[in-house]
Formats: sequence, C-alpha cells, structure tokens
Amino acid sequence: MTPRPYRLLLERVLVRVDAETAHRASFAALRAVARVPGAAAAGVRLLGPRDAALRVRALGLDLPGPVGLAAGFDKDARGVDGLAALGFGFVEVGTVTAVAQPGNPRPRLFRLLADRAVVNRMGFNNAGAAAAAARLARRGSRRGGPRVVVGVNIGRTKAVADSGAVADYVASTRAVAGVADYLVVNVSSPNTPGLRDLQSVEALRPLLVAVREAAAAAGRQVPLLVKIAPDLADADVLAVADLAVELGLDGVVATNTTVSRERLLTPAADVAALGAGGLSGPVLRERSLEVLRMLRARLGPGPVLVSVGGVATADDVWDRVRAGATLVQLYTALVYEGPLLPRRLHEGLAARLHAAGFARLQDAVGSEAVAP
Ligand code: FNR
Repeated sequence: MTPRPYRLLLERVLVRVDAETAHRASFAALRAVARVPGAAAAGVRLLGPRDAALRVRALGLDLPGPVGLAAGFDKDARGVDGLAALGFGFVEVGTVTAVAQPGNPRPRLFRLLADRAVVNRMGFNNAGAAAAAARLARRGSRRGGPRVVVGVNIGRTKAVADSGAVADYVASTRAVAGVADYLVVNVSSPNTPGLRDLQSVEALRPLLVAVREAAAAAGRQVPLLVKIAPDLADADVLAVADLAVELGLDGVVATNTTVSRERLLTPAADVAALGAGGLSGPVLRERSLEVLRMLRARLGPGPVLVSVGGVATADDVWDRVRAGATLVQLYTALVYEGPLLPRRLHEGLAARLHAAGFARLQDAVGSEAVAP
C-alpha cells in the first residue's frame, strides 16, 4: 500500500507536472537534504536494511540488503548519497556514454497512471563517462558519507557508428573502471538506434571481451555484468546465458524496459499518442520473472543474477530471490510508491525470509521448486 501522504502528493501535485520535471525536482530535493551534514548517514541508519539476515555477499562485495536502485534514475552519479539514504542496498548509476550527449527532445518521459507504469525515450542523456567517474572519485575520497555499493552502467554514444561501438564502450570502461564497484554493459535500451542488435552473440562476444580487457587494464578486478532486454526471444536469452558462462562473466542484469505495449489498462490510443520508448513497471513483472528463471536454469550457480522489471512489493522481491536472483532492482515503483519503498521492501523481505525458516537471504536464493 502506498502511504497516504505520498499518494496525495502523487495524485494532487506530481501528476500535474511533466514527469521529467517532477523527477528532477524530487531528485534535487533529495540531494539537497543529503548535503546537510550527517543527514545521509542518518537516512541510512533509519531507512537502510537493518536485519542481519538480509546481508548479502555478491560480486565480491558486501551489501546490507539485496534491493537496489536500477540504472537510469541517477544517470550522472549526482545523488548517490541521497539514494543510499533512502535505504537502497546498492545503487546503479548511468547509463553513461563515452561522449556527453543531450538525449532525445522533451517530452520524453511519461506516466501511465492506470498501469503504474512509465514510458521513456530519454536516449541516454548524460554528461559523459568521465564526468560521472570524476564525481564518483570525489565521493570516494570524501570522508563521512554513507558507504554504499555503486555500479556503473555503460552504453553506446548515439553519434558513434555501429562500427565504432566496441571502441566507444571501451572508452567508457577506461573512464569508470577505477571507480565502479561493478560494471554493467547495457545492450538493451530501446532508445539508441542499433543498440539492442549488440545482444546477438556474434556482436556481444567481441564487445564483452574488449570491455573485460579494458577493465583489467585499468588495474582493478571490476565485476562485469551484461544487461538484457525482456523482448529477446527465449533462445536468445539462453544464448546470452551460454556466452556469459563461456566468458566467465560475473552476472546478468535482467531486464531492461520493453518495446511491447501489450496488457496495458491505459487505452491503446493514449499509449500510442506517447510515441516510442521503453515501457516499465508491473507490466514487466511476468516476463522479467520468466527470463530470470530461464537464466537461472541455464547458468547454474556461478554468475550473479540481478532481477529487475516490475518489482513493486515485498512479494515481488521474495519471488525474485526464490527464483534465483541474488540482487533485485527497481525504478518505476519508486515513482508510484515513494521514498519509503526500499525500507518497506527490505522489512517485508526479512519477514518472508524468517517465516519460511531461512536464517540468511543467501540460503533462500533459488530455493523455489523448479518445475521438472
Ligand atoms: C530506465 N532504465 C534504464 N536502464 C539502463 O540500463 N540504462 C538507463 O539509462 C535507463 N534509463 C531509464 C530511464 C527511465 C526513466 C526508466 C523508467 C528506466 C531501465 C531500468 O533500469 C529498468 O531496467 C526498467 O525500468 C525495469 O524496471 P522497473 O522500472 O519496472 O522497476
């Protein structure tokens, strides 16, 4: 249940404002609060995961809880402290690209209230990988801020030709490898023409190999993951899984937004009027879970699975964990449920964990009965 004060804010104020303007304003407010000395640390104490059973070790990192913020909210790593203060177990920043770019013309972000969904065609608006890296480096050298795992998600610069895609990702990798706790190669956003073609194994193999080499050359063993679309055919999901095993990737993030417009309550004409973009929210739940189960069955216990897409409730998080996700992310539900959502999800997850007799989250990962 969305708390009443946030519901009123959403229904009376936020819906009257363009979605991107509302996002910018609320994110700016969060950053302002987090700049007050001691505020971010207090937020982490109050809202962060408290139950030791939720602690999880993944990708060689220790996290206080498995629910993190998905990529796209903090494209430029401007508000990591504030986001940590909301109680997320980890934060993925980006997508950043090698060259700064403005993204698509506005409006490019839309709410579908009846579906508690969002359509976005932001188009990787960001200030460039180097700028985000500099910000993360400054944050890392500062004392007193909250400690939180920060992943960096990298994508392709729009102006770069397909033939230059690998070099472009490599440039981003060089920029951020030294400051990222983990690195996600995003080949699944629908808003950069040609990007999703990089999901084919023939294109993905050389890309991931090059990124891995560049990350290693940066002198740090940064865990490497790939983020895939829910729109991949099942056979292609399995092909990516096989490639992940072949290359010894550290994990897979599944899934990004969908280009499908099926199963929405919002009238089709209204949806069509919004134009192109990636759809996110509960409408993704079923396919995201299905992709997770396929990956889990194919990958075995090695690579870490990060499940994202339509997660809005503690039951959703619990379903993902039992289906094999060590980490879970969300974005759209934060818009509809408000800033206390991470705390509610971690608390609800802890209750479910204990009720099911698990002492540690990690013991519950993949514990659902697998259909024969
Ligand atoms: C996103 N998402 C996203 N993903 C990514 O890898 N890089 C990005 O830059 C963005 N940008 C972005 C912007 C907006 C406005 C939204 C709503 C989403 C996708 C996001 O990380 C996530 O994979 C999907 O939104 C599905 O999760 P939710 O939103 O259903 O919890």
